[in-house]
Amino acid sequence: MSDQSSFELHSSHEKPKNFSPKKKPTPSSIRVFFFTSSKFLTILLFQILILHFIFRSPTKSVPLQETILPKTPPFQSLESKKCEHGTLYVYDLPPMFNKDILNNCRDLDPWHSRCNALSNFGLGPKATGPIAVPENLSPSWYWTDMFAGEVIYHARMLKHECRTKEPESATAVYIPFYAGLAVAKYLFTNYTAKERDWHSVKLLKWVHDQPPWKRSNGSDHFIMLGRMTWDFRRTRDEDWGSSFIHMPLMKNILRLGVERDPWDKLEISVPYPTGFHPKSKSEMNQWMNFVHGQNRTSLFTFVGAKREVKGDFRTILQNHCYNESDACRLVDCSGTRCYDGTSEILEAFLASDFCMQPRGDAYTRRSTFDCMLAGSIPVFFWKRSIFHQYEWFLGDEPEKFSVFIDRKEVRNGTSIRKVLEGYSKEDVRKMREKVISSIPKFVYGLMDSDEMGSNKDAFDIAIDGVLRRFKEQRGGKDT
Ligand SMILES: *[C@@H]1O[C@H](CO)[C@@H](O)[C@H](O)[C@H]1NC(C)=O
Ligand SMILES: *[C@@H]1O[C@H](CO)[C@@H](O)[C@H](O)[C@H]1NC(C)=O
Ligand SMILES: *[C@@H]1O[C@H](CO)[C@@H](O)[C@H](O)[C@H]1NC(C)=O
Ligand SMILES: *[C@@H]1O[C@H](CO)[C@@H](O)[C@H](O)[C@H]1NC(C)=O
Ligand SMILES: *[C@@H]1O[C@H](CO)[C@@H](O)[C@H](O)[C@H]1NC(C)=O
Repeated sequence: MSDQSSFELHSSHEKPKNFSPKKKPTPSSIRVFFFTSSKFLTILLFQILILHFIFRSPTKSVPLQETILPKTPPFQSLESKKCEHGTLYVYDLPPMFNKDILNNCRDLDPWHSRCNALSNFGLGPKATGPIAVPENLSPSWYWTDMFAGEVIYHARMLKHECRTKEPESATAVYIPFYAGLAVAKYLFTNYTAKERDWHSVKLLKWVHDQPPWKRSNGSDHFIMLGRMTWDFRRTRDEDWGSSFIHMPLMKNILRLGVERDPWDKLEISVPYPTGFHPKSKSEMNQWMNFVHGQNRTSLFTFVGAKREVKGDFRTILQNHCYNESDACRLVDCSGTRCYDGTSEILEAFLASDFCMQPRGDAYTRRSTFDCMLAGSIPVFFWKRSIFHQYEWFLGDEPEKFSVFIDRKEVRNGTSIRKVLEGYSKEDVRKMREKVISSIPKFVYGLMDSDEMGSNKDAFDIAIDGVLRRFKEQRGGKDT
């Protein structure tokens, strides 16, 4: 009865070194990659639909480079109370580490162009078509790619009110290198270790020669990684990923990333970007009220696809859902079902008390945030999907906003429905309130919005946290 799926090989106390079972793009590994996120499929379809448009519109093909530079850098008075945690310096990297990567968006993964997914400062194309949200909020919905964080963070950093031009006085130094975008296309095809590390090696060489580096050896530097940490932790040439994080010059650099290594104190996990990017506090409140007022007619929901692997846990969950169809709502992402799934998935989450969140290729999933954004309570089957992750945003007591059911018990015949029915209406209400109250903390607001006021979104919380940490670190040294 052990876990037989090659995707579940890593028991909860092991680090997944060889993260992917295969490096070659066999049809099934490609499929697996595609099904990692049904939103991803949505983006794919959108790209197909608008290919015509892209090709006909020469000025639109690379809309990224111009837009990435802030029109009016803020450089505000740094004495202002707003920068109580200190100031930020952003390296002006050679374009090969960010702009060129974006400009090369057609060629960033082996299968299709990523130009649309990365447009709009990383928010992606505006969502169109029927989407299940109040009409006036639909302009704040985008088809945001789950791996677009590097672009989103960079764009926001350039406009950060505590950004300074003087590295000498900065509390934190940000390295705007798109490590995940740079490595993506080398992950799935037959590239050498050297090719996979090429950008990272050059980057560290460049950074090492900069004055701010010499001052600190990198201990006040940080970077944002838009992919899971396991994609940068290769230890042997033949394994998965790049070896970026293991490179000697990385040893002091703080890393924000969508999934952290729970044993690495220099890593902080930040939420996967979702599709909602409100431009004001009032939009945020309206969304929260909308979510709050839903009639949840299903006990639980499962969004995902089976995999053609013996003992696949997702298949078990899907079967569970079929068997309990009066209580479980299934969005089957097999085939092309989720191509236009934005509405269907969101509707399912909005109508369910709980959503099942098995691990995918990684322990964490963007879908967890999609689920919580709709006020649904996530159900985890791997502790590592939530424990020691996202604590700055969700708190460090997952039991207050989620349910854990060990996958072994599910395999052993435990009824998920019975477990969930064991929670009283009041328990469910409390957990849902906790989920809804965390929405403003894990959502990435619209850049350039002055209407968020003092409300801190996921980006603000992450950067404040970095500054506070560096400040404490420095203070600690002085005393
Ligand atoms: C992949 O790389 C290995 C080692 O370089 C080589 O032997 C093999 O032929 C390559 N396979 C393909 C499909 O290119
Ligand atoms: C940085 O590292 C070098 C080489 O290990 C060392 O000589 C130097 O003192 C270090 N500088 C600081 C500020 O820690
Ligand atoms: C919830 O259900 C009630 C009763 O069926 C209905 O009146 C109300 O409009 C529904 N609310 C939503 C948001 O669908
Ligand atoms: C679903 O129901 C069928 C028929 O009753 C049963 O054989 C199967 O074990 C059930 N599967 C799950 C996952 O509950
Ligand atoms: C699975 O079920 C068997 C038989 O009922 C039991 O002995 C075993 O302890 C169970 N394992 C788990 C992890 O619940």
